Amino acid sequence: MPITIRPIALNDAEAFHAALDSVARERRFLRLTEAPAIERTYDFIASNIATGNPQFVALDGNMLVGWCDICQSGEAGSEHCGSLGMGLLASHRGRGLGANLLAATLDAARGRFHRVELDVYASNIAAIALYEKAGFVHEGRRRAALHRDGRHEDIVMMGLLFS
Ligand SMILES: CC(C)(COP(=O)(O)OP(=O)(O)OC[C@H]1O[C@@H](n2cnc3c(N)ncnc32)[C@H](O)[C@@H]1OP(=O)(O)O)[C@@H](O)C(=O)NCCC(=O)NCCS
Repeated sequence: MPITIRPIALNDAEAFHAALDSVARERRFLRLTEAPAIERTYDFIASNIATGNPQFVALDGNMLVGWCDICQSGEAGSEHCGSLGMGLLASHRGRGLGANLLAATLDAARGRFHRVELDVYASNIAAIALYEKAGFVHEGRRRAALHRDGRHEDIVMMGLLFS
């Protein structure tokens, strides 16, 4: 099936919710361990569309298989900063789709934000490599910041500045 990458629409909410839920339930990559209530997903998408926060989705045919969003910081003085989150269904990893989805979302963020930041678990080698390739640099490490399923995990902080 052809892969499409495009901005999210409100009627993607249920499919986005399902994809987020699937990745969250893997418990290895995201802070969430399940998707929030569907109503919150609608609100999240509607708010991103209304405020111009870039949020893109990847579709395999008609099936939503991934997302990437960059949400403006709510902190006074940090309005120029966007926080990035992304994920792909397990079935669609490792074929270049993440790199394309990230590039499309960063392109849309250029001009809107001066800085994009993210947190990633230190064990998430694929994501860290992807972010490094896109120009993110390591800005710090919060040691043992996550405790899940009986083990501690470091959180790596990464950031990208648009020139
Ligand atoms: C992280 C994620 C978005 C990457 O997307 P992807 O489509 O799998 O990655 P791509 O195939 O586009 O690969 C891009 C680069 O990432 C790196 N990479 C991807 N998979 C890798 C792996 N298993 N091991 C090491 N590096 C890897 C490589 O540098 C690769 O570039 P290359 O192919 O030129 O060598 C995807 O794997 C995913 O959704 N993972 C689960 C959710 C997640 O981790 N979200 C991010 C939380 S911070």
